Amino acid sequence: MRQRFLFGVGALVLVAAALGAVFRRSPAQQSTAGITAVAVFDSSSLQGPRQPIFFRHDIHVGQRKMACQYCHYSAGASNEPGIPSMQTCMGCHYLLVNGSTPANAAEIKKLKAAWNAKKLVEWVRVHMVARHLHFPHSLHLKGLGPQACATCHGNVARMPQVYKVNNVNNMGFCITCHLERKVSRDCSVCHY
Ligand code: HEC
Ligand code: HEC
Ligand code: HEC
Ligand code: HEC
Ligand code: HEC
Repeated sequence: MRQRFLFGVGALVLVAAALGAVFRRSPAQQSTAGITAVAVFDSSSLQGPRQPIFFRHDIHVGQRKMACQYCHYSAGASNEPGIPSMQTCMGCHYLLVNGSTPANAAEIKKLKAAWNAKKLVEWVRVHMVARHLHFPHSLHLKGLGPQACATCHGNVARMPQVYKVNNVNNMGFCITCHLERKVSRDCSVCHY
């Protein structure tokens, strides 16, 4: 009943704590974790491009405390942090995690359907610099530390859907930090 009413309200983002046991935490837990997952009924109302499957960082990282590198494992080792392979997801979703709310279950079903059909999920890129630019991820993590993701990407752990916090397609974003950190600003370091 209550759920139907909420759907009727439309593209609203509501605090899910009110919605039931799944998200219910003791007040003490809430204050230490500081993360409240929200029920989202229409992902197109969120910032950032809509993804083919509504994968939520706020649930995996914010609530479940998964480390970024569990999925983006090449972030520290290569130029590309990499979008996780389906295998990474299926460790949990093949059998164990089927979703505890109708909305979660529906999205997990899509993931399994893609896996069974041997199709890759075509995630929409959010951050992408022009082809003639050089951006080495691993070097940045070496220089800024493994916790630096938020410096450039914002607090992804709180995002139901990833969006650009910083405009990485604006040279000023790069230069400002390179100036501060006394890193090279030679054109040829970044431009091929
Ligand atoms: C359970 C696996 C998983 C974990 C853990 C995870 N991610 Fe992701 N991440 C994904 C998937 C899948 C995508 C592609 C879909 C999307 O954009 O939501 C993605 C996309 C992203 C993107 C957007 C990439 C682009 O196209 O620009 C960023 C930035 C990102 N993740 C950062 C992080 C950070 C920072 C953390 C830790 C705080 C993290 N991720 C933890 C799975 C994960
Ligand atoms: C370590 C275990 C684990 C891994 C690995 C994992 N998930 Fe999840 N996932 C969960 C849990 C736990 C939930 C919450 C289920 C619930 O309570 O409804 C969840 C929920 C979801 C949901 C529904 C809620 C949401 O996030 O929108 C989707 C879709 C999903 N996962 C996709 C993925 C994808 C895609 C990957 C791989 C990139 C992945 N998961 C990797 C544990 C995992
Ligand atoms: C100094 C800024 C900076 C830091 C720190 C940073 N990123 Fe990025 N990230 C970027 C930029 C810029 C791009 C676009 C790069 C490109 O197009 O080649 C990007 C792209 C991505 C992508 C999409 C790339 C792909 O392969 O699809 C993911 C995922 C991502 N970052 C995750 C992370 C994670 C996880 C961390 C922390 C471990 C992190 N980033 C730290 C700036 C940063
Ligand atoms: C938050 C700070 C920060 C931002 C933002 C940033 N960088 Fe950097 N960058 C660094 C640091 C620190 C290093 C040095 C890493 C090391 O060598 O220890 C570096 C190194 C580099 C290098 C290698 C330089 C060399 O001498 O070989 C390139 C190329 C580069 N950055 C490109 C970019 C581009 C392109 C962007 C914007 C899309 C960008 N950076 C944004 C901090 C930043
Ligand atoms: C730290 C990295 C970095 C350095 C150093 C740098 N640029 Fe850029 N530049 C960028 C980024 C990132 C963009 C935005 C590209 C995009 O659209 O994704 C850009 C864009 C530009 C553009 C707009 C057209 C294009 O190529 O996309 C020009 C022109 C440009 N830079 C010239 C210069 C010149 C000249 C220098 C040396 C004085 C220089 N840049 C040094 C990172 C850098």
